[in-house]
Amino acid sequence: FRRLRVALLGAGAVGSQVAHLLRTHADELADRAGAALDLVGIAVRDVDAPRDVELPRELLTTDADQLIVGADIVIELTGGIEPARSRILEALNSGADVVTANKALVATHGPELFEAADQVGATVSYEAAVAGAIPIIRPLRDSLAGDRVHRIMGIVNGTTNYILDRMDREGSDFAEVLADAQALGYAEADPTADVDGFDAAQKAAILASLAFHTAVPLDAVHREGITAIDAQTIAAARGAGYVIKLLAVCERVADGDGEAISVRVYPALVPREHPLANVRGANNAVFVQAEAAGDLMFYGAGAGGIQTASAVLGDVVSAARRHIAGGTGVGESTRANLPILPVGRVQTRY
Ligand code: NDP
Ligand code: HSE
Repeated sequence: FRRLRVALLGAGAVGSQVAHLLRTHADELADRAGAALDLVGIAVRDVDAPRDVELPRELLTTDADQLIVGADIVIELTGGIEPARSRILEALNSGADVVTANKALVATHGPELFEAADQVGATVSYEAAVAGAIPIIRPLRDSLAGDRVHRIMGIVNGTTNYILDRMDREGSDFAEVLADAQALGYAEADPTADVDGFDAAQKAAILASLAFHTAVPLDAVHREGITAIDAQTIAAARGAGYVIKLLAVCERVADGDGEAISVRVYPALVPREHPLANVRGANNAVFVQAEAAGDLMFYGAGAGGIQTASAVLGDVVSAARRHIAGGTGVGESTRANLPILPVGRVQTRY
């Protein structure tokens, strides 16, 4: 029976739950993966910091570089660009498969990471990077690879949906509900990433790249956040039969004789009877319209430690299966290379 060495970077809202599930469900995960997944260490900044779940002190280390050496699978749950990027490259170059939930990194350095993985026959998996627990990366990359996606429209940030939902239904104060979203583990380390729309823009860039087989850079995404939305705006929307939601819209649009891609994130007025209007709390929903499949809807928890840990562990089991089969990764297809509309030319109509 094979044993795989799993190194975990980060033990915050998501990482602590991943560590907990790896340890408590070890036998079941081993059965499914075809190998024991031995958690050999957890890199953090401060080994004495309080954790959401109790973790054995001897697994914690501040030496991430040392932990990566000899690992078969590296799970990156620290967030941010550096040192996450360098550590993932280091892991790939030492023969490990990588699993990450880091949308900021995938949206900005995805092509570099996928290329590095391809060169060594390893993989970078990131199901948890978009819409928390909802399976959306693999459906777009694999299940819909034979179809032609026209449009994706969704709520892809849990924190802002939680804030807007509570402001709408309870008349809560913005700052107060943002603090609650942070305490519940939904928000990014710097919550301006959520409320200013950066997080949703990163996710939209990732979804559009997969759906349209074209590398969509972050600066091609039109971005507006929710900080200008106050109680008065929400009440006015309600009075007119609408609810305000932060939407991510990625679509093919006519461009002269050909077509281009438009990607935008903005607060939109959604009619109250629309299914997106009823996405509550930190849930997310993603509608996909494809030529042959028609309309598909993906719905569920968009943020939260344990919920996101589910998506991370799915990637870990898949990586373990590939690792022991000696298989290589699934390439990211960006060969279509469609033009992307400049930010100034996109429309922000719902
Ligand atoms: P947290 O801020 O809660 O945790 C980050 C963890 O990483 C902490 O344990 C921290 O250590 C550790 N860390 C940070 N920098 C370093 C470093 N340089 N070296 C070693 N360890 C480091 O983040 P989350 O768990 O919320 O998020 C992790 C990732 O998952 C992010 O990329 C985020 O965008 C993504 N994500 C988060 C979701 C959520 O609902 N929270 C959902 C989907 C994705 P210490 O504890 O010692 O400070
Ligand atoms: N901060 C993110 C959100 C976490 O609120 O959606 C999930 O990606």
